[in-house]
Amino acid sequence: METIIFSAQIAQDLARYLQTRKYSKLGVIADSHTIQHCYPIIQSSLPEHSVYTFEAGEIHKNLDTCIQIWQWMTEQAFDRKALIVNLGGGVTGDMGGFCASTYKRGIRFINIPTTLLSQVDASVGGKLGIDFMGYKNHIGIFNQPEAVLISDEFLKSLPEAELRSGYAEIIKHGLISNANYFEGLKSKDWQRQDWKAIIEISVGIKKDVVEKDPKEDGLRKILNFGHTIGHAIESFYLDTERHLLHGEAIAIGMLAEAFLSSKFLRMSPMELKVIEDMILAVYGKNEIPSADFESIIDLCFQDKKNEGSILNFSLLRRIGDCEYNIAVGRDEILQSLTYYNELPA
Ligand SMILES: NC(=O)c1ccc[n+]([C@@H]2O[C@H](COP(=O)([O-])OP(=O)(O)OC[C@H]3O[C@@H](n4cnc5c(N)ncnc54)[C@H](O)[C@@H]3O)[C@@H](O)[C@H]2O)c1
Repeated sequence: METIIFSAQIAQDLARYLQTRKYSKLGVIADSHTIQHCYPIIQSSLPEHSVYTFEAGEIHKNLDTCIQIWQWMTEQAFDRKALIVNLGGGVTGDMGGFCASTYKRGIRFINIPTTLLSQVDASVGGKLGIDFMGYKNHIGIFNQPEAVLISDEFLKSLPEAELRSGYAEIIKHGLISNANYFEGLKSKDWQRQDWKAIIEISVGIKKDVVEKDPKEDGLRKILNFGHTIGHAIESFYLDTERHLLHGEAIAIGMLAEAFLSSKFLRMSPMELKVIEDMILAVYGKNEIPSADFESIIDLCFQDKKNEGSILNFSLLRRIGDCEYNIAVGRDEILQSLTYYNELPA
């Protein structure tokens, strides 16, 4: 597994980390926002290096950007001993890690996640990749970063909508594995959470699951709660005016899949109501046009978690207890989307 460093002084910790490593060349990958807000925080701690910047946003997590990154690596004459620093959110980490892992059959990289979402989720666990033909993370590999350096200092410049997006994965961590954690989150206004403490707990939950099942043969599937439907919704609206942030789509997915949990695993109606209240209080309701339901369900079937024509979900038996490989049919997914639309606004 990767080394995770929770850093109170990111510039100093990064400088120290790099001093103890041998590499031939150093390259930084950032997007158009993190180059402006985050790069200045670490710039002075980086020895001689070159920087590649791409346009921020999920729609740029694609093969065209990868080609540009591989070209930059080649022009900079990076060899197998070069080290890449991914400075940004999940898009930068997923794509930068993918490019590093495929360039010359793989060079080392470290992640410096700068969004809440990437700090608690995307930067840990070694899933790397890009979107392709409208499907999320369709092309990719598993490969671990050498290290992940996490600092809440970056969150100061993060727009509130992005902070809220990351919070969805934190809620998920409580729902799938720790009822007390979920209870604690629920008892506080989401904007007033102690991010430093929460990041450590959430990373601990994710790391624990990934260590037990790195390649997602079993247990790791619980991390997909809310994501089968959530990813389909995110993909469907990706390049449209209804575009949703990752966490906003996952929030809808968690509600729909909580409904499925009550149907398939008999999660109690009381717990379903608790989840509804919590998620709607943070994200409100984003009604989905019913004309889009069939296409969204089609996209669910493209999900990587599925085998053949069976749609496997990770669902809750109760808050804090998740089960995987629950076969769900098309009709029930349709019902779950209808259920979501009928929730109070
Ligand atoms: N690999 C995994 O296990 C995993 C897990 C969850 C999500 N993901 C992926 O992560 C991506 C979503 O991640 P994300 O929400 O971090 O998206 P992102 O990388 O697009 O970042 C969101 C926005 O915030 C900006 N930003 C980043 N840090 C900032 C800062 N400190 N200050 C100001 N602006 C900043 C970015 O430029 C971007 O505009 C999706 O592609 C999703 O598929 C991967």
